[in-house]
Amino acid sequence: MSRLEGTVSVITGTASGIGAACAARFAREGAIVAGIDLAKPGDAGDWGRAVAVAPDSGFWQADVRDEAAIERVVSEIVSRFGRIDSLVNAAGVAGAGAVGELALAEWERVISINLTGTFVPSKFVVQQMAKQRRGSIVHLSSIEGLEAMEQQAAYNASKGAVVLLTKNMAVDYGHLGIRVNCLCPGLIDTPLTEVLKSPELVAVRQRFVDGHMLRRAGQPEEVAGAALFLVSDDASFVSGHALAVDGGYTAGRRLTDPPA
Ligand SMILES: NC(=O)c1ccc[n+]([C@@H]2O[C@H](COP(=O)([O-])OP(=O)(O)OC[C@H]3O[C@@H](n4cnc5c(N)ncnc54)[C@H](O)[C@@H]3O)[C@@H](O)[C@H]2O)c1
Repeated sequence: MSRLEGTVSVITGTASGIGAACAARFAREGAIVAGIDLAKPGDAGDWGRAVAVAPDSGFWQADVRDEAAIERVVSEIVSRFGRIDSLVNAAGVAGAGAVGELALAEWERVISINLTGTFVPSKFVVQQMAKQRRGSIVHLSSIEGLEAMEQQAAYNASKGAVVLLTKNMAVDYGHLGIRVNCLCPGLIDTPLTEVLKSPELVAVRQRFVDGHMLRRAGQPEEVAGAALFLVSDDASFVSGHALAVDGGYTAGRRLTDPPA
C-alpha cells in the first residue's frame, strides 16, 4: 500500500528518533523525503532506509531556528521537487528545571528550538502550500503540551505553545486547503529519552511508564504511523487537532494497581 505515492514531504529532525522514523515510513509509503536536521544522519538506520526506498530524497543540514537558512532550504526543495505536500516538524530538544532555578539561557534554548524551530519551517512551507492550495502540516507537541510535568517548565511551555500554534495555523490556512495538526506523544524510546535509562533516573522512568495505561513506552514507529495518518488523505477532514499518541497516559489515572 502506498498512501503517499507521488508526494513530497519535508521532515525536520530526520537524523534521529521520531523524525527519522517518519522519514523511513513516509518513504515506504511512496513519498520523496526532504530531510532537515542540525546533525547529519548516518547511512545506517531510519534515514538510510528512507533513501534506500526513495533514492530521490535529499538531506539539508540546517538549524530550524535560522530563518535565512531555512528560507534557502525550502526554496531549494521547491526548485528540486516542484512542490511540498506535507511537513512534519520533529526537530526538538528536552530540557529540565523549575522556574525558580532555570537559567534564562536554558529557557531560551528550549523555547527557541521547540517553538521558534516549529514556526520557521512552517512559515516558508505554508507559503508554498498556499500557492498549491493544498498541504498538510504536523507539529510535534507532547503530552507535556497538554498537562504539566514536574521540573519541565520550559519544555511544558514550549509544547503547550505548539498546540496553540497548531490551532492558529488551522484557523489561518484552512480556507486554502491546508490542514494543520499536532501529535502529543507520551514517553517514546528515542535518544531524547535515553537519559531516563541511567541508574539515577531508572526509577523515575518506571513511574513515568506506569502512567501509560498500556504500561510501556512507545516506539518512534508508532508516532510515525500517527503522523502518516494525519498527512494522508485518510485525515482529509481533520485539522486543528492535537492527537495524543500516549498509550492512554492523558486518558486519566488509575488508583489501584492493575490486576496481574
Ligand atoms: N521521545 C519522546 O518521548 C517524545 C515525547 C513527546 C514529544 N517528543 C517530541 O518529538 C520530537 C522528536 O523527538 P525525538 O524523541 O525524536 O528526539 P531526538 O533527539 O531523537 O531527535 C531530535 C532531532 O532534532 C534535531 N535537532 C535538535 N535541535 C535542532 C535544531 N536547532 N535544528 C535542526 N535540528 C535540530 C536533533 O539533531 C535530532 O536529530 C521533539 O520535538 C520532541 O520534543 C518526543
